[in-house]
Amino acid sequence: MPGKHIQILMSALIIAVFATTACEEEVIPTQVPVEFHPTAAPVVERPDSSSMSAEVVVSIGGDSAVGEVLFSNCSACHSTGEDTVVGPGLAGVYDRAGTRTSLDAEAYLVQSIREPSVYLVEGFAALMPAFDQLSDQDIQDLIAYLKTLN
Ligand code: HEC
Repeated sequence: MPGKHIQILMSALIIAVFATTACEEEVIPTQVPVEFHPTAAPVVERPDSSSMSAEVVVSIGGDSAVGEVLFSNCSACHSTGEDTVVGPGLAGVYDRAGTRTSLDAEAYLVQSIREPSVYLVEGFAALMPAFDQLSDQDIQDLIAYLKTLN
């Protein structure tokens, strides 16, 4: 019976088509993961985080292009202009950094990122999380980027 054969062939074809389309199902990620590319930081003497020395961090040198990528951790709360979002706009932050406390600009920025609650910018609450998971290199790259904001 040729009719029967065609029927079997057809069902085989349908199954085959279904099987291949099922495998082609695309996985669409809901969020693009933020990629960190920290360069291995040199081993530095750091007795404890509270005595974090700015000199140690500064000596590494920063890459503002990497800092710009890392800034995706900050942009929910900080504009790169004058506008206040959750935190102050960061335009010109490097210039004012040295005038905020007795620390110099670099040291103030390191502290602002690692221990933001130590000094609160007037008019703002302690809403910034401490980014103590960032490496010295990450911090240096971020500062290099902050320097470019005017
Ligand atoms: C959840 C919101 C939030 C996030 C995320 C955040 N900040 Fe902040 N930031 C604040 C707030 C609020 C202040 C003001 C209070 C203070 O001084 O801690 C602040 C203050 C600062 C200051 C001091 C500015 C000045 O004018 O003296 C710097 C520098 C800074 N943040 C950098 C960063 C960087 C770099 C990141 C990302 C690694 C970041 N912040 C992520 C909320 C945030």
